[in-house]
Amino acid sequence: MKKTVLVSGGAGFIGSHVTVELTQAGYDVVIADNMSNCDETNYKGVCAILGRQLPFEKIDFCDSAAVEALFSRYTIDAVIHFAAYKAVGESVDEPLMYYKNNLDSFLNVLEAARKHGTHVLFSSSATVYGEPEKTPVTEESPRQEATSPYGNTKQMCEDFLRDCVKAYGMHGIALRYFNPIGAHPSALIGELPRGVPNNLVPFITQTAIGKRECLSIFGNDYPTPDGTCLRDYIDIVDLARAHVCAVTRMIEERMDKPYEIFNIGTGRPLSVLELVTSFEKVNNLKLNYRIAPRRPGDVVAIWADPTLANEKLGWKATRTIEETLASAWAWEKHLAGRA
Ligand code: UD1
Repeated sequence: MKKTVLVSGGAGFIGSHVTVELTQAGYDVVIADNMSNCDETNYKGVCAILGRQLPFEKIDFCDSAAVEALFSRYTIDAVIHFAAYKAVGESVDEPLMYYKNNLDSFLNVLEAARKHGTHVLFSSSATVYGEPEKTPVTEESPRQEATSPYGNTKQMCEDFLRDCVKAYGMHGIALRYFNPIGAHPSALIGELPRGVPNNLVPFITQTAIGKRECLSIFGNDYPTPDGTCLRDYIDIVDLARAHVCAVTRMIEERMDKPYEIFNIGTGRPLSVLELVTSFEKVNNLKLNYRIAPRRPGDVVAIWADPTLANEKLGWKATRTIEETLASAWAWEKHLAGRA
């Protein structure tokens, strides 16, 4: 019998790609979203890629009665929780908004999952490692005190899941993403930043298309080979596939222990300058950029040791940085054509 996965925040950047991969892998997916930070673009794109309408529920996960009603309406085997605020700077200015939204919503998911015997996958972040002492980081690398309320909600939600698994006999996985970038090869779904993008790749594509005048590279005097920061950029489709592997591992009861954590990255560090140069080369264009002062709070260098995910999930990043950066550019052009 087909298994059903509930994807909270399923109309967003990562949620929409995960929905596509889950459906193509044979799962029934229920998308749930309050549409507070996106429009219908990605939902429509998902349906266009799959050639059919998927069940969509407009709900706010902070509404516990609505969450319970949703879990009662469908037989849900696993829930993947993406529904959360995600702007680091905004979280510093509005901590209460971030704590209320990101914590309440996940507590409601956990409560319903406990009652209905649902497996839980939480979307965590490499931000929990802070500035690591040793790179690459493994899942055993220590978490550092969060430098923003956003980062703190990721750590707290990981702990909520760990404790609920322990107390209630549930099963849960936290995936710690490195830097998700790119778009679906169809160019029908992708990232839709509101206002001025904070993240590097949307800023690059918006500069290339002429929406932004100039990309600022934040610092070239870091202790790295070319002086710019090092990150592990993971293709969004590769990242989405990791969720299929993790959900399947839970549903097929192949877990080594009831709560597991996996790094989802490529294991390859890339500097900001290398990424910019690759983008120019693969898309055959020149990007207007300048070196700017360091951005406060930036980590110098972090990349994943993805061995555990490779071995236990049977997952590996497969897309090249060239494919990924071409997909990001195709998506920006798709958006420009639409506007
Ligand atoms: C950031 C968040 C992280 C979050 C992730 C989501 C911080 C400290 N970290 O990670 O918590 O999970 O986004 O994707 O905010 N850069 C430029 N110019 C730009 C934008 C970025 O040079 O206009 C550089 C940054 O200095 C950094 C790299 O590009 O070295 C990547 O930046 P970004 O895409 O914002 O991701 P992170 O800061 O790694």
